[in-house]
Amino acid sequence: MKKLALLMTVVALVISTPIIKAQTIVGSAHDFSTQTWNTSGEICKVCHTPHNGSMLPEAPLWNHQLTTATFSLYTSSTMNAVVGQPDGNSKLCLSCHDGTVALENFGGVTNGTNKMLPGDLGYIGTDLSNDHPVSFTYNTALATTDGQLFDPSVHLSGITPSGTIATDMLFAGKVQCASCHDVHNSVAGTASLLLKSNAASALCLTCHDK
Ligand code: HEC
Ligand code: HEC
Ligand code: HEC
Ligand code: HEC
Repeated sequence: MKKLALLMTVVALVISTPIIKAQTIVGSAHDFSTQTWNTSGEICKVCHTPHNGSMLPEAPLWNHQLTTATFSLYTSSTMNAVVGQPDGNSKLCLSCHDGTVALENFGGVTNGTNKMLPGDLGYIGTDLSNDHPVSFTYNTALATTDGQLFDPSVHLSGITPSGTIATDMLFAGKVQCASCHDVHNSVAGTASLLLKSNAASALCLTCHDK
């Protein structure tokens, strides 16, 4: 009997040991599989397609209509970087988040009506003047000029064991939306689809030497 009890305890322990699993896009804010406007019911298809996608350098097999809006940009007297109109993956994010393109405008559809509206979770609009700047080059020279930024080519990101800010967070050398966010929600323990937890501003302090 004692042996059986021990065995039962061991079995119970094995069953209850939590399995540490990475988060995924399933069930995240970007899982549109159950939206009425997504008749395919597929998750990836709203943004990527296995066939006849757009071959953009910033994302493979892109399937969503792109924004053509002109954005108001962040400016400030203390900023050293030169910010341009959104490009790279930022333009892809804004193709839903600026509210000008309907969510269901993918796979060649261009007449959708479901746009993100002011007040919706995640609505950013075309006014980026009060948002963290994106689509600008962040390199050693900028860090030197600014004096309070880490050198992106040597400073570790803390995201991968030996990756730097440049290798893990920049896209063609630029800060973009995906420098702070993971659109696929694959980083465990973060809210707001962040690339790295911002507890105690850890995300901000990865680049800002404050
Ligand atoms: C809401 C839009 C969206 C959805 C849904 C989405 N992706 Fe992406 N994906 C992007 C964007 C934007 C990028 C480029 C930015 C980046 O790499 O983070 C990207 C990049 C990628 C890349 C290349 C970079 C990398 O992370 O390896 C792959 C592969 C990819 N997606 C696969 C998928 C698959 C598979 C699915 C479905 C399970 C999916 N994506 C769902 C928007 C999306
Ligand atoms: C296909 C349209 C689409 C694209 C492309 C897209 N998003 Fe979203 N995103 C949405 C919608 C819609 C929501 C709000 C979902 C809801 O109401 O729950 C959302 C929500 C979010 C949220 C809030 C998540 C939360 O849990 O609070 C973040 C952050 C976000 N998106 C960032 C991004 C970034 C960064 C990109 C590009 C790398 C991107 N999105 C690309 C449609 C999109
Ligand atoms: C410098 C880092 C950084 C960049 C760049 C960035 N974000 Fe965010 N974003 C955050 C953080 C951190 C949050 C979490 C909420 C907070 O702390 O205010 C957030 C929250 C969000 C949310 C959730 C809704 C909300 O307002 O809280 C959306 C949607 C979003 N970001 C989209 C984007 C898009 C689209 C871009 C590119 C145009 C972008 N972000 C660029 C750091 C960033
Ligand atoms: C991937 C690196 C990176 C991350 C992460 C990041 N930033 Fe930045 N941020 C920059 C760079 C580079 C600039 C441009 C600084 C300049 O040129 O003066 C900047 C600019 C800014 C500015 C404008 C500075 C000015 O002089 O007007 C503010 C404010 C700011 N960041 C705050 C934040 C906050 C808050 C967070 C965390 C939510 C954050 N940043 C995360 C890289 C980053």
